[in-house]
Amino acid sequence: MSDANEIKNILQFYISAGVDETCGNDVFKIEQKAAVQSSPEPLGAGSAFYQRAATTNLSQNIIASKQNARELCAKAENLSELKELVSAFEGCALKLTAKSTVFGAGNPKADILLIGEAPGADEDRVGLPFVGRSGRLLEKMLFAVGLKREDVYITNVLPWRPPGNRTPTDAEVAICLPFLKRQIELVCPKVILLLGASAADAVLDTTDSISKLRGRWLEYELSNKVKIPVLASFHPAFLLRNSAQKAKAWSDFLRMEKKLKENLTKSC
Ligand code: URA
Repeated sequence: MSDANEIKNILQFYISAGVDETCGNDVFKIEQKAAVQSSPEPLGAGSAFYQRAATTNLSQNIIASKQNARELCAKAENLSELKELVSAFEGCALKLTAKSTVFGAGNPKADILLIGEAPGADEDRVGLPFVGRSGRLLEKMLFAVGLKREDVYITNVLPWRPPGNRTPTDAEVAICLPFLKRQIELVCPKVILLLGASAADAVLDTTDSISKLRGRWLEYELSNKVKIPVLASFHPAFLLRNSAQKAKAWSDFLRMEKKLKENLTKSC
């Protein structure tokens, strides 16, 4: 194969994997270096030790970052303090490729908390959640049940955009989850609406599919044992690609509207 063809194939692979920007002009050199570093050593006790040590370092870093995130959350007494702490946090590598830290936005005393997956390109550029195409659809759905964006609080599982909008890894979710949980506690909504599988998996700690989870009331327990009703529904980006599913999402929004009419009280 010619060099040009090889490069074309590699670039096509990157595009299909969701990469849509580069972070420097030494990408290929970096890859070659990484390949040399991670190439298997000759068989023997040394090589097994080398590989195990690398894996252990990685998981130790994740555990340390998660612990650091938890400690920061304990210091945050309100959303603006938490926002500052999240913006200064260096424990999640996604921050290196993101332009902005996209923290939650909206009414900090809202009855309804909406949780999406992670910022996309528009949110990363603007620094606010759900401001792109998905956000416009979300606003229409809220409007249809008599709500404006300013009435609710909207946030994401991750405050940084995964490159190319790829699905967040388990490690990224684990590291950032304390920030989301603290936002839930500080807003203390009457109901939580989870938009899509990543939010449902992270908040409900399940691997059940979104089709199975959506449409029925579940519960989220705060650290003080108070339980908040939670409804999972489809992500607006999914609805933009699968308009046949909009009817189900619409029924979820009606379910949420009905629940709020039950005169729920804020429990914190
Ligand atoms: N998708 C999300 O999950 N969150 C955003 O903020 C935007 C798009």
